[in-house]
Amino acid sequence: LFRPMSFVKIKAFQKAGHRRRNNNVQYVENNGTWKLRENIKANALVAVKESLGFKELGPSSHKSRGIAWKRAGELCSKPQFIVGGATRTDICQGALGDCWLLAAIASLTLNEEVLARVVPAGQGFGDNYAGIFHFQFWQFGEWVDVVIDDRLPVKDGELVFVHSAEGNEFWSALLEKAYAKLVFVCVVSCSTSEGFEDFTGGIAESYELSKAPSNMFQIIQKALEAGALLGCSIDITSAADSEAVTRQKLVKGHAYSLTGVTEVNYRGRKEKLVRMRNPWGQVEWTGAWSDSSSEWNSITASERPNANAEDGEFWMSFSEFLSHYSRIEICTLTPDAITSDSIKYWAVSNHDGTWRKGSTAGGCRNNPYTFWMNPQYVIKLNDEDDDPDDNEVGCSFVVGLIQKNRRRLRKAGEDMHTIGFAIYEFHGQRDVHLDKNFFLTHAQKARSETFVNLREVCTRFKLPPGEYLVVPSTFEANQDGDFCLRVFSEKQTETLPCDDPVDAELPDESVSDDEVDSGFRGMFVKLAGADMEISATELTTILNKIIAKRTDIKTDGFSLETCRIMVNLMDDSGNGKLGLGEFATLWKKIQRYLGIYKKNDMDNSGTISTPEMRLALKEAGFTLNNTIFQLLVARYAETDMTLDFDNYVACLMRLEMMFRVFKRLDPHQSGFIELDFQQVCHAITF
Ligand SMILES: *[C@@H]1O[C@H](CO)[C@@H](O)[C@H](O)[C@H]1NC(C)=O
Ligand SMILES: *[C@@H]1O[C@H](CO)[C@@H](O)[C@H](O)[C@H]1NC(C)=O
Repeated sequence: LFRPMSFVKIKAFQKAGHRRRNNNVQYVENNGTWKLRENIKANALVAVKESLGFKELGPSSHKSRGIAWKRAGELCSKPQFIVGGATRTDICQGALGDCWLLAAIASLTLNEEVLARVVPAGQGFGDNYAGIFHFQFWQFGEWVDVVIDDRLPVKDGELVFVHSAEGNEFWSALLEKAYAKLVFVCVVSCSTSEGFEDFTGGIAESYELSKAPSNMFQIIQKALEAGALLGCSIDITSAADSEAVTRQKLVKGHAYSLTGVTEVNYRGRKEKLVRMRNPWGQVEWTGAWSDSSSEWNSITASERPNANAEDGEFWMSFSEFLSHYSRIEICTLTPDAITSDSIKYWAVSNHDGTWRKGSTAGGCRNNPYTFWMNPQYVIKLNDEDDDPDDNEVGCSFVVGLIQKNRRRLRKAGEDMHTIGFAIYEFHGQRDVHLDKNFFLTHAQKARSETFVNLREVCTRFKLPPGEYLVVPSTFEANQDGDFCLRVFSEKQTETLPCDDPVDAELPDESVSDDEVDSGFRGMFVKLAGADMEISATELTTILNKIIAKRTDIKTDGFSLETCRIMVNLMDDSGNGKLGLGEFATLWKKIQRYLGIYKKNDMDNSGTISTPEMRLALKEAGFTLNNTIFQLLVARYAETDMTLDFDNYVACLMRLEMMFRVFKRLDPHQSGFIELDFQQVCHAITF
């Protein structure tokens, strides 16, 4: 596998990746504010990421020159899909530096149930062979089936990507091709965590081992007990380092799987050991506890694991593991991926959400005036962990925030957003979207480790039982995006969106003809003319004359359309015009709305911003959830995310119309109405 060509190529690619590692943007918290992290130390796998995107392996790039696509049958005489089950040795690295994927696939073969879902059974090159194969991957909350033909990229007679050691077994190569099709770009531009998640639907955490928590061994042990998949790597410190083999035969910048842990009695003390596997299937550690090293002689036979083959698998002590390796990724599986009774699986909950410019894209806490606009979720932690692995009792859970579909937008020049989340202690009602004051007066309890422009940020927490509010956000405000928030927990937990129920409390403002004072009556007579009624056209003229005199509010004038809605809203008599009482009622309503508008225009700009609008709506009696608020902003806000007075009034009038119509049709407040066509015409045609 150390073919000279591949090796040089990997080096060249990783070198390119190395130079570009600053492409990762990462923010860390500094005294309550998120600051750009200087001197980003991305791990090698992430570094390679940016360099081998679709651009460099696109159809016209020099790296793809000389590549031919051949069917399995043209590559060997007796191709097989799977021989004797999928085993770890079926996966050998190809010419491209995609060892991160190998680590993920290799770990996959350790778990038959997980593998069977990704690689559906019953496929092969026998009687049913039709030149196509299918695989299943997890994408943002659901399993998708990917169908491919069996043509594979070949250069100089060798498979370019993953292949089996025997050369005639093709499931791993075809799996890689299907995955490449799914993620839309060449697979080399991903990371082991992403591969883990897409193969399992689990959640992948990443730890820097130099800063490992004190209970790292227990976390690993628990993860293995819970059927998790684990991958490890050694960072490269210079370009020359990549794939360099250390004196003790560890490969730098390369992905290993961690497949087991044990504790043995060694010279009167307990020694913690970990079992590692090199996906190359060879090149094993030669230090303490390696295959046939002298340490094993001091161990009683019953404690001695059998691991002497040159199969890429070896043991080493946990302390040396911590000092030699830089990073570990742990992929915890969802309960549905596990059927074995011996496994203590974690509970999981999933919520999809959106950030929309002007309404729900509030940015991180550095934006105190918009942060509260972000979607909010409540996590209810009821039970403490079973066997607290350190002295601290609490509830363990992992929160993962995935941005959806960004990779696909890359071709359109869009890149990943920088994302993260904050967690607050919470003792309030659950059906309220918390506003600015809450966040200005409450310190966060926990947070994502960083804000970073990766597909997912994911952090493990251990907190006392109770209720917590999670606020996922992009770093900058006003960035459109879709996300999936997942909470994995050792014990059963509840996660719910925290949002206002959609409702309206509308005051009865109606003024009867008799209540109108003589001054207003005199004005009405002058405005209404001989018929003593005001039409929508007349109303437009009147309102625009009045607001033209006001310098404290900005508006480009009421449209006839808006005035028509106002007339329809007020017009109890059904003649399409306003009488004295109806006009007085409308006038009172506009005055009230104007008062709310002025009060919420904090900076006296004459317009209100969209965050101010959400507060104004609440004050006017409308509680709306994120979905509806997103719609209103999309329809009524200007491109600078403000509303002027006429748009604001138009929006309120329409809302009021909607609620009044519904309430009239649902007199018993059942929350449901049933209409025939006649009723629809009557209710909503104006
Ligand atoms: C941290 O922030 C607070 C308030 O924002 C400020 O008073 C304090 O000086 C800051 N401390 C440091 C070390 O920057
Ligand atoms: C917001 O309210 C609407 C109408 O009640 C509902 O259809 C929608 O699902 C709600 N959105 C969320 C995120 O709960």
